[in-house]
Amino acid sequence: MRRIAVLGSTGSIGTAALEVVAAHPDRLSVTALAAGRNRELFLAQCERFQPRCVSVSDEGDARWLRSQLSYAPEFHFGPEGLQACALYPGADTVVAAVVGAAGLQSTESALRAGRRVCVANKESLVVGGALMKAAMEAGGGELLPVDSEHAALHQLLQGRERGSLREVRITASGGPFREWPLDRIRAATREEALNHPTWKMGPKITIDSATLMNKGLEVIEASVLFGLTADQIAVTVHPQSQVHAMAGFQDGTYQLQVCANDMKLPIQYTLLYPDQLPGPVAPYDWTQARAWSFEAPDLERFPCLGLAYEALRAGGTAPAILNAANEIAVAAFLEGRLGFWDIQACNAEVLARLPAGPATTLEAVLAADRNARDNASSWIALK
Ligand SMILES: NC(=O)c1ccc[n+]([C@@H]2O[C@H](COP(=O)([O-])OP(=O)(O)OC[C@H]3O[C@@H](n4cnc5c(N)ncnc54)[C@H](OP(=O)(O)O)[C@@H]3O)[C@@H](O)[C@H]2O)c1
Repeated sequence: MRRIAVLGSTGSIGTAALEVVAAHPDRLSVTALAAGRNRELFLAQCERFQPRCVSVSDEGDARWLRSQLSYAPEFHFGPEGLQACALYPGADTVVAAVVGAAGLQSTESALRAGRRVCVANKESLVVGGALMKAAMEAGGGELLPVDSEHAALHQLLQGRERGSLREVRITASGGPFREWPLDRIRAATREEALNHPTWKMGPKITIDSATLMNKGLEVIEASVLFGLTADQIAVTVHPQSQVHAMAGFQDGTYQLQVCANDMKLPIQYTLLYPDQLPGPVAPYDWTQARAWSFEAPDLERFPCLGLAYEALRAGGTAPAILNAANEIAVAAFLEGRLGFWDIQACNAEVLARLPAGPATTLEAVLAADRNARDNASSWIALK
């Protein structure tokens, strides 16, 4: 029986992870849950799964929860509460599904404590990739990627000689603006950017999908997870989101991973690995006619993808700087304080302005993150 802590349980990935757990009561159980501000949903999740350790962002919400719950788990709140759930001794597996760099420390702690960490929080790998790997090696933890493209690559690269691999390709749906001309993209509204054609996700990653920054973060994530250089990781636009990744071998052949575009599949893959059992998603129906297309990404209309390659090549804290600028710019766009095209301009400006340093300590990474956030906020304030 795997005993699971879900960090970010009220989000898109968190709720899907709980559905996977509910589908495998003989294999999976919930021991700890942590969320942010959605206390009503969190209360319902606690009543249903009865975790022994719970945390929310706000102290007042934690008090409210204590007054409402029909049983008495350990109560926590704030960043320390997230840590408490990540390190709860009753859990052997942690689903890291908090959004943004807020998930960095809890992911690192869980790896250092020797847990299996199913990482959806790609920002923690982008910002502190080397630290995550060091924590995993020091603590004997296990890191399995929840991102569908990386779970697909994990599957494709199992048992493969590294020398036989030429490149990997991760696919991108292309987002809502795939066919839009540049002039129209420049003036895109919040509602247009939130209208993703194939995936239903939280707001931050949905905007990142519209700018293709999400794919850029995933290129960096792939480099961290599989030890690949920027030149070995390519992106192919595939609007149907059914092929998730491709492994290209030295002899010119490719293997592709195909599954429905439902995040419960990669979540289940990481929770039950190495077993692959029937689950909450029906097997692929090959009796239906299908037409799939593949195209190259357009870096002129989607410059954030190019910026991610630039940050990956620069190395050190450059990915943390880009990620922090992007988090600030996306939040400002969602709040109506910044235009869609300004997101890439803010990211480019902060990445160019701040020199990258070594990313070998948590303090250095967090300092680069803070500095980039301040720079991005000042840039936005002067707009
Ligand atoms: N959604 C997808 O299909 C998908 C696919 C691949 C990867 N990912 C990655 O998975 C992560 C989560 O994405 P999502 O779409 O699930 O986001 P989401 O729907 O916005 O959910 C984010 C979760 O994090 C919680 N949270 C936010 N800040 C927190 C804090 N400071 N302390 C504790 N909890 C906090 C939120 O709590 P409240 O809602 O209660 O405030 C919520 O439970 C992101 O890194 C994303 O890039 C998502």
